[in-house]
Amino acid sequence: MELEFYYQRLKGMLKPDRFEHSLGVMETAAQLAAIHGADAQQAALAGLLHDCARSLPRETLVEMAGEFNLPLHEVDLALPMLLHAPVGACLLRRDFGLRDEAVLRAVSVHTLGDGQMTLLDQILFVADKIEPGRHSRDVDQLRDLANCDLGRALLQCYAMSISYALSLGDPVHPRMIEARNRLIFDRPDRKI
Ligand SMILES: [Fe+2]
Ligand SMILES: [Fe+2]
Repeated sequence: MELEFYYQRLKGMLKPDRFEHSLGVMETAAQLAAIHGADAQQAALAGLLHDCARSLPRETLVEMAGEFNLPLHEVDLALPMLLHAPVGACLLRRDFGLRDEAVLRAVSVHTLGDGQMTLLDQILFVADKIEPGRHSRDVDQLRDLANCDLGRALLQCYAMSISYALSLGDPVHPRMIEARNRLIFDRPDRKI
């Protein structure tokens, strides 16, 4: 089975705790897909593979981003770990032979999102923050929210990520702002 092939391949690339996290995201993404009407197999695959480049050193990520001709913002260079998402998608295409464009896109935007997030992109983004291995203070409330209102859960994820960046004095990537604004403007209960 396809998933088994990727499972074995990935296991050799990630540290055990990162692999555990990937299995948790796979499970959670498939559950969210079933609830919100997305393809559960695609969601599971995206969840399993999303962090395939997460164990690469920062310098390697910047180097590979150059090799793959990825557009680089100065925030990417300041915080190169963000690049594990788009670099991971390129590796999945080149080294794993993955050709599912929807899965590749979801992996590519799972750290920042963008202004055109698909349902699968949103599911992966949220699943990454609420998988069973996550134990942050508000995670249970976020899990409940994700089951009933995925868009609002995603907004909550952005609020947490942006607040965290601000608390560290880090720059905030403009694609996060763009993604968050789009979510706000596209909400059916928009108030502004
Ligand atoms: Fe990641
Ligand atoms: Fe992750």
